[in-house]
Amino acid sequence: MNLSLQSIVKRFDTVTAVDGVSLEIRDGECFFLLGPSGCGKTTLLRMVAGFCAPDEGRILFNGQPVNDLPPHRRNTGMVFQNYALWPHMTVFDNVAFGLTVPGRTCPAPERRERVGRMLKAMHMEDMARRKPNQLSGGQQQRVALARALVIDPACLLLDEPLSNLDAKLRLEMRVEIRRLVKQLGITTIYVTHDQKEALSMAGRCAILRQGRVEQVGPPRDLYERPANRFVADFIGGANLVPGKVRAVINGLVTIATAFGEWTARDLHGAFQPGAAVALAIRPEALHLRASSGTDLNRFAGRLTETIYLGEATEFWIRMSDGFVIKALESGPGIPGGPALPAAAAPAVEIPFHVNPDDVIVLAAE
Ligand SMILES: Nc1ncnc2c1ncn2[C@@H]1O[C@H](COP(=O)(O)OP(=O)(O)O)[C@@H](O)[C@H]1O
Ligand SMILES: [Mg+2]
Repeated sequence: MNLSLQSIVKRFDTVTAVDGVSLEIRDGECFFLLGPSGCGKTTLLRMVAGFCAPDEGRILFNGQPVNDLPPHRRNTGMVFQNYALWPHMTVFDNVAFGLTVPGRTCPAPERRERVGRMLKAMHMEDMARRKPNQLSGGQQQRVALARALVIDPACLLLDEPLSNLDAKLRLEMRVEIRRLVKQLGITTIYVTHDQKEALSMAGRCAILRQGRVEQVGPPRDLYERPANRFVADFIGGANLVPGKVRAVINGLVTIATAFGEWTARDLHGAFQPGAAVALAIRPEALHLRASSGTDLNRFAGRLTETIYLGEATEFWIRMSDGFVIKALESGPGIPGGPALPAAAAPAVEIPFHVNPDDVIVLAAE
């Protein structure tokens, strides 16, 4: 099933939770809504499910308007952020619940068969008689998924389905949900504030900010070609350096900043000399080692922080004007550099360079 959201607006008193969202979601697509807390993700998903009505705009399923259809006639399966399992019901009854609402009832033997098949698919067939409080977070999560899927929905709606799980289980469930959704070929809208979840699972992803869509695209596009500062910062936490375009020559843009001149690839020919811009530079694009090659984008600053992250280390480098630029190196220290963190005394001078292809030029806003 394909979904079309057309200029959707939803207000709560003085808050405009969803502010003119238009999205086209293709049949069988795993589509993500990604944005910070409070940007309107849940509200948007609830409108798709039919739990609340838009103040403006239209929602179409396969080209048919559904604004006036109640939730049970929309044929969507929803997993709520807190799972919303009924504590007094067994796992079996929780999953079977969707098959008891008007229009979805089916004979008891068929119900048993469908619930059984769903629990099996979730590796939960041995737990049918348990109550939710006798289950781990991950198991409750599977019950919520089984309940959403047992009705054989045309579309699956997931609201931060992994947010209550511990880090390890979250990674496992990412893979499992991705496999399940792919195997079923079901159109899915997945809401999260976790960029890693979105990058690793999404077919396409919409970045939301204050009820509006900032950018839509496959994860790689969002990461490599962010449309603006918000997206560059929200996904991957880019360094944002203010500057001014100095010249555009031979497909390269030179940009003056407070601590030196940068060179970037001029992808769109969009910038004129004198234009105020922001450079977005990913922490992992900074190379903290002396290397041969061109002289472009070579700088040095003073090390102010070393943050050990296990598989990588983050370095904060203070530039001459006080701007702190962050660098990320895989491994425990700077390859070929001083032994760290022992030698990472503040004020060590750190040279670095950045490939012009990794310097993203954005409008200053
Ligand atoms: N039922 C409601 N009544 C009043 N305000 C609401 C209600 N639901 C959501 N909001 C407000 O709408 C905005 C978006 O909320 P929500 O959709 O829950 O965001 P998200 O899921 O992205 O965290 C927030 O400012 C929130 O406080
Ligand atoms: Mg929410």
